Amino acid sequence: MQILEFADDEVVPIKELVELYDAVGWMLYVADPDGLARAVDRSTYVVTARDDGELVGLARVMSDDVSIMYLQDVLVRPSHHRQGIGTVLTTRCLERFDHVRQKVLLTDDEPGQAAFYTSLGYRNLNDLGPNRLNAFVQFRGLDDL
Ligand SMILES: CC(C)(COP(=O)(O)OP(=O)(O)OC[C@H]1O[C@@H](n2cnc3c(N)ncnc32)[C@H](O)[C@@H]1OP(=O)(O)O)[C@@H](O)C(=O)NCCC(=O)NCCS
Repeated sequence: MQILEFADDEVVPIKELVELYDAVGWMLYVADPDGLARAVDRSTYVVTARDDGELVGLARVMSDDVSIMYLQDVLVRPSHHRQGIGTVLTTRCLERFDHVRQKVLLTDDEPGQAAFYTSLGYRNLNDLGPNRLNAFVQFRGLDDL
């Protein structure tokens, strides 16, 4: 039986972080466990999901708590996909920063992720119509993604 628990700003041991990020194939993080731990530790807000004690999901946010809330990672163990866990993690982030004007993220251009973020109320810039908003990015290691 599933015993799902969600927690805010839990201090997650590095080993568990690496296992979770490895499970979704995010190898740039996995290759640098200390960097991963630092990134999670320095996030403004982190929410975790555990199933009977096992870390099965995590979402983290960078924010100034006024004008911008950047959702940096949302990840759920593949064994637990399509059970609503990603939705709960992201909804908690959105509720925590409800007062913030801009809620943005970057993600891979894949239909599943588009469906996921659309289901949570995010809109693709391309769907806002012409002459509305533009986005620019500088990305170190873009070819390694
Ligand atoms: C994206 C991700 C976080 C979704 O987590 P999840 O717990 O499986 O998502 P949910 O169960 O809450 O899905 C909510 C809705 O999003 C949509 N959705 C989610 N994954 C989908 C997929 N692979 N294909 C199509 N729609 C999808 C569906 O509408 C789904 O509702 P439904 O299951 O009732 O049809 C998860 O697939 C994941 O960890 N992927 C690897 C890491 C990643 O790419 N993260 C996002 C980029 S930061």
